Amino acid sequence: MKVGILTGGGDAPGINAVIRAVVRKGTQSYGYEILGIRDGWQGLLNHEFSSLDLTSVSGILPRGGSILGTSRTNPFKHEKGPEKICQNVRKAGIGALVVIGGDDTLSVASKMGEHGLKCVGVPKTIDNDIAGTDYTFGFNTAASIATEALDRLHTTAETHQRVMILEVMGRNTGWIALEAGIAGGADIILIPEKPFTIREICRHIKRRQKRGRNFSLVVVAEGAKPQRGSEVVYSEAVDEFGHIRLGGIGYYVGREIEKCMSIETRVVVLGHLQRGGSPTAFDRVLATRFGIATIDLIHKRRFGRMVAIQGNRITSVPLKDVVGKRKTVDLELYEIAKVFFG
Ligand code: F6P
Repeated sequence: MKVGILTGGGDAPGINAVIRAVVRKGTQSYGYEILGIRDGWQGLLNHEFSSLDLTSVSGILPRGGSILGTSRTNPFKHEKGPEKICQNVRKAGIGALVVIGGDDTLSVASKMGEHGLKCVGVPKTIDNDIAGTDYTFGFNTAASIATEALDRLHTTAETHQRVMILEVMGRNTGWIALEAGIAGGADIILIPEKPFTIREICRHIKRRQKRGRNFSLVVVAEGAKPQRGSEVVYSEAVDEFGHIRLGGIGYYVGREIEKCMSIETRVVVLGHLQRGGSPTAFDRVLATRFGIATIDLIHKRRFGRMVAIQGNRITSVPLKDVVGKRKTVDLELYEIAKVFFG
C-alpha cells in the first residue's frame, strides 16, 4: 500500500521524529511505500509528492521544523478543493494518509473522511490544546525554552530591580505560560482562560516589594486579555482558517504597570524561538511513539482516528470527537501556580 504523509499548520519540534517513525516502521514491518506530501493540504491540491525511504529520513530525528514543509491551506476554502484532493489521492494510488497537525489541519482530515479519504491524525502543536490527548509533541520543548528564558530574565530583573515581562505563545490556552511560569518561578502568570486586571498585577508586585523583593517576573500568553478587554492583535490579516495574528500583549501589560506604579518594566517576546530548533528528549520519544502508533492503526485499517497519550499510555480517539474542541489549562495546576503569585 502507498501511505501519504503531510504536516499542516505551525511547525512544532518533533514533526521529523514522527515522519521518521512512520517511514521506518511502515517500510520495514509492513512493506508500505511512503509518499511525502509537500506543504500540508496544499501539496495534495497541487499534486506535489515525493517518495520517502530510509535514506530520506536518516538523521532527521533531532531536527526542528518539518522536512515536508507546511502551510495553512484549507481545501474547503478552495473551489472544488475536496474533490481535487480525492482525485489526486486516487491518481497517486494513496491508500491511507497520515495527517500531522493541530486542530485546523485535523478538522480538515476529519471532514475529508466524509469524502472517503482514509486518514489517521497525529496531534501537533506547541500550544498543547488539542482535546483527547494529555500532551501534544512540541509542547515540552516550547515550555523548556520558555523556562530557560525565565531563568535568564530572573538574574537581570533582580540586578536592575525591574519587572520583566515574558510574552509566550498560546493563542487560546495558557499551557506554555502556566508550565513555564511554574518551572521558572514566575510571580504572575496571565493566561487566556483567566482575564486579568492591571490592579491585581500591581497588587502582587507591591506585595513582593513589601517583602523586600524589588523585582518581579510576569509570564503572559499571547492570547491573554484584560477583563472587559480583548486580545492584542499584531495584524488583522486572517489565514484560511480565520485566525488573526496575535502579539503585543506583553507591551500593553508593561506600559500599564508603569502607569499604575513607579517601577521600570522591560518586555521580551519569545516568539518563534519557542518553535524552532531541536526537540527535547521527551518530545522525541512522544513523537516516535505517535508515529509508530499511527502506522500500526493504518495497518489495522482503523481510519478516522487520532493517536493520543492518556496517562503514559498511547491510545487513539475518533477524530470527530476531538476536532473543534479545545483542551484548556488544568485549573488545579493554575491553583498551584497561584500559591507563588506575589
Ligand atoms: O499554532 C500554535 C501557535 O504557536 C500559536 O500559539 C500562535 O498564535 C501561532 O502558532 C503563530 O503561528 P505563525 O507565526 O506561524 O502564524
